Amino acid sequence: MGIKLSKRLLSLTTLITKVGTVVDVGCDHGHLSQYLLQHGLATKVIACDISQSSLNKVTPLQNLSIRQGNGLNVLARDEVVDTVIIAGLGGMTILDILQNFFSREDRVYPELILSPQSQVGKLREFLNKSGFMIVEDFVLLDVKFYDIIKAVYKNQSVQKLSKLDDLQLQYGVFFKRPNEALKQRLNIELQRLSAFGDLKLSDINKINEVLKWQ
Ligand SMILES: C[S@@+](CC[C@H](N)C(=O)[O-])C[C@H]1O[C@@H](n2cnc3c(N)ncnc32)[C@H](O)[C@@H]1O
Repeated sequence: MGIKLSKRLLSLTTLITKVGTVVDVGCDHGHLSQYLLQHGLATKVIACDISQSSLNKVTPLQNLSIRQGNGLNVLARDEVVDTVIIAGLGGMTILDILQNFFSREDRVYPELILSPQSQVGKLREFLNKSGFMIVEDFVLLDVKFYDIIKAVYKNQSVQKLSKLDDLQLQYGVFFKRPNEALKQRLNIELQRLSAFGDLKLSDINKINEVLKWQ
């Protein structure tokens, strides 16, 4: 039966550039992997998770490779990968997974589609410093707020990446572009800060600066 994805997972699928091999890291139930194959959005999917009990929930399918392991360590040497999706993991875990992968001798630079649950600024900084250009960066509201980032590798010797500023690191590279969910999230954050009397002027000024563009 065709799988129905949440708005969040569906939005990740729209960011895939090439119908090729996708790695779904931390796939859990494997719904995203299944959807990609059933809708012709990938020719092959590697669904991986550190937890075997998560993988036990994944429906076996043709062209679906199910692997247990930590992050991208599940990839064989020189294995071809076009897109890596990592959603629903903490930002620092995602950063560690990517850092490990890029320290491999046979490293390649697939496009990255990421939805970290925390420490988004640290992850943006890591991507920026590692030669990745963030080409999509927005907040999505699907019951909760989610950060969604797509990054592609740019050889820094060919194209110098500009260093992201504080507001870009904290609120998104494209905070000057209207994003209704970002606006809602920041308004809630402002209310929260004032309700708790937790009024840090620098935080409020930063939020207002971003809201000016929304
Ligand atoms: C909250 S679920 C997210 C599932 C799915 N990606 C989504 O966004 O709906 C997080 C999954 O990541 C897995 N996970 C956590 N750390 C991992 C790691 N280092 N490598 C691979 N999988 C990991 C967990 O076992 C869990 O199944």
